[in-house]
Amino acid sequence: MFSKPYLFRRSKTIAFGLFGVAVAGALSSGTVWTQDQVDVQSLASLKTVRVPGPPDAVLNEYVRDKRAAIQLGKALFWDIQVGSDRKQACASCHFHAGADNRIKNQLSPGLLAGDKTFQVGGPNHELSEEDFPFTKHLNPDRADSRRSDKNDVASSQGVFRADFISAGGKDPDTCLNLSERVDEGGNGFHVGGVNVRQVEPRNTPTTINAVFNFRNFWDGRAVNDFNGGDPFGLRNPNAFVFKAVNGQLQQIAVAIPFSSLASQASGPPLSAFEMSCNGRSFVELGRTLLEVKPLGKQKVHQADSVLGPLADPRGNGLKVSYGDLIRKAFQPAYWKNGPAKMTPQERSMDLIRRASRVGDPGGANGGNGGRGAGGAGGPRGQQSVEHIEANFALFFGLSLQLYQASLVSDDTPFDRFLEGKRTALDPQQSRGLKVFTGQGKCINCHGGAELTNASVRNVLNERLERMVMGNGGEAVYDNGFYNIGVRPTAEDLGVGGKDPFGNPLSETRIAQLGKTRLLGNQFDPDKEPSVQAGDRVAVDGAFKTPGLRNVELTGPYFHNGGNSTLKQVVEFYNRGGDFAKENQADLDPDIQPLGLSEAQQDDLVAFLLSLTDDRVRFQRAPFDHPSLCVPNGHPGDEVTVPSVPSEGGDVKIAEDLLRCIAPVGKRGSPTALKPFLDGQTTPQTGQWDR
Ligand code: HEC
Ligand code: HEC
Repeated sequence: MFSKPYLFRRSKTIAFGLFGVAVAGALSSGTVWTQDQVDVQSLASLKTVRVPGPPDAVLNEYVRDKRAAIQLGKALFWDIQVGSDRKQACASCHFHAGADNRIKNQLSPGLLAGDKTFQVGGPNHELSEEDFPFTKHLNPDRADSRRSDKNDVASSQGVFRADFISAGGKDPDTCLNLSERVDEGGNGFHVGGVNVRQVEPRNTPTTINAVFNFRNFWDGRAVNDFNGGDPFGLRNPNAFVFKAVNGQLQQIAVAIPFSSLASQASGPPLSAFEMSCNGRSFVELGRTLLEVKPLGKQKVHQADSVLGPLADPRGNGLKVSYGDLIRKAFQPAYWKNGPAKMTPQERSMDLIRRASRVGDPGGANGGNGGRGAGGAGGPRGQQSVEHIEANFALFFGLSLQLYQASLVSDDTPFDRFLEGKRTALDPQQSRGLKVFTGQGKCINCHGGAELTNASVRNVLNERLERMVMGNGGEAVYDNGFYNIGVRPTAEDLGVGGKDPFGNPLSETRIAQLGKTRLLGNQFDPDKEPSVQAGDRVAVDGAFKTPGLRNVELTGPYFHNGGNSTLKQVVEFYNRGGDFAKENQADLDPDIQPLGLSEAQQDDLVAFLLSLTDDRVRFQRAPFDHPSLCVPNGHPGDEVTVPSVPSEGGDVKIAEDLLRCIAPVGKRGSPTALKPFLDGQTTPQTGQWDR
């Protein structure tokens, strides 16, 4: 009804099925398609889409109690003890509508472009409206009126730069702080020689509705099949888990389909940018967590929708241990055996895990990733570890996936409108919807009930697409990933980049190399457009299309975080992108000046505001959570910051400011979450915001 036939993209009405897929035990695959007729480009309430995930027959091989696994996942997601510094949780960067609205020390220089100079503001800068957009125009409707341009990225602060020495249990890990001075090998995250927290090189997307993405991360590197250990699925030839078979431990390779979130979750805990000192292993993380009280430094609301029944009535945290939760949630064949010997192969996998973040300059490309912590700890050759520790990455990935699969936001005014409640959108929003599906061409990429062509349903239906490009001529690309000219292509290749094994991240390029066995989850070359050696491929500078629900609350926008308001985003599209000319070779043909009037642009913004779910806005179940204090920049400014005593020899590190969020139960908070920068100031340390 809302979809228009589209000239270049192939017809979207096809038969496909998701849930009849079976991957038996390990790598063998037998396809049993169920047939659904779905027009994936037509809009629909998200309530009509089944939440993707491994078929029960596959999941039951590992998980015996889903509820316990979700409890485990929620505790791990919010627990600051997962970080090497015992301050950094997953939620530290995903606490605000699944994303991050902090404003102090949130700038990264153009690291992926090889640039370590800060342009918008220095380390510990406090962002304000004047800083945005990062590419400014004299006339926002005209791309040729560019006035200034910065390649910095607004993202999320993680940990201080340091090498791992040994696990600390309840206390922070022992680590060696490393200089951030560029001439001493650092990335420039320091103020006058005092280290500040490193900031990620791409903006933080929301975890809410991420379960609908076929692959995760902006560049899709968290693949759909989970290998039990890292984000790279079948691409990692050394990935395996330990299974007890007749009392004997065996190493088995696994490929668990529809598990991009599990692949994703196995990245950050060891990332030397996000949560870890460089060189920690999952075994060491497991050992730490098996020792501590879950959420032991945080408050859990008695009415928490998931953790309430486990909350310790006498104080912080849960009254059960992580070991209890793992044993309850997972099949004994994956934890009950005696110690496992870590072979050289296991050791090499651990090294790969450490180096496994493409797009993390501290992991894949820089630092001493591959060489590990140079004898300063880390997994040693033949070391005996407990079975439950050896499979910790498997438990971590699957439980986080199951928790995040519950973070489904499908009750926005727009969903209600599509369910037939015609008054759910006001007249301006209805006009905005017409722009979205018509002159704005938004729906061509933000299609389907998920509002993204990178959805499981759409990509499974068609992994590769052949299309006429911005400068004419046909090219093949990864479905759902587009170059829309946010930044010059060479600055960040996106899905045009490589995995740590040297393979292209792009499925189109993998197919071109004839390595489709690496792609997993039923990739069928006969079903896809063929891509021959000489064929043109348009994947460089292309990024995953975000679903747009709750976009009101998840700014700043785009992979570089360079736009602070939805009006700026709409102006970006209206002028035909910022780097369309420069990116012609890979640019999507829909990125062209749109000729929208001021009123149409405002209507489109009003429509985008109809995509907010009040359960997200008021943190009601399933979006309720324990208390959390997040590092929020450092006292002082961009010129001086006070330091605290550190173990890193001469290297000084800055004192943290903390911003604290109260625990919220299933009925939510009376106060609404606000858009990025809306009335926000940097609170004093320890101040609670509700
Ligand atoms: C230091 C901040 C930080 C921490 C800590 C962190 N993340 Fe993220 N997260 C990011 C950034 C930045 C990205 C985007 C990276 C990219 O695409 O290259 C991201 C991406 C994601 C995505 C992908 C969403 C999408 O649409 O592609 C998910 C899911 C996610 N994180 C979950 C987690 C989980 C689970 C943890 C803990 C195990 C975690 N994050 C820890 C910053 C963080
Ligand atoms: C050619 C495909 C395409 C079209 C057409 C398109 N988008 Fe996008 N959109 C994307 C991609 C890809 C991204 C991420 C790009 C990046 O960050 O480099 C994105 C990002 C966004 C974001 C930022 C979301 C976030 O979380 O950062 C918003 C908002 C958005 N688009 C809205 C729209 C609107 C409104 C329209 C119509 C005017 C539109 N898009 C048209 C592909 C498209």
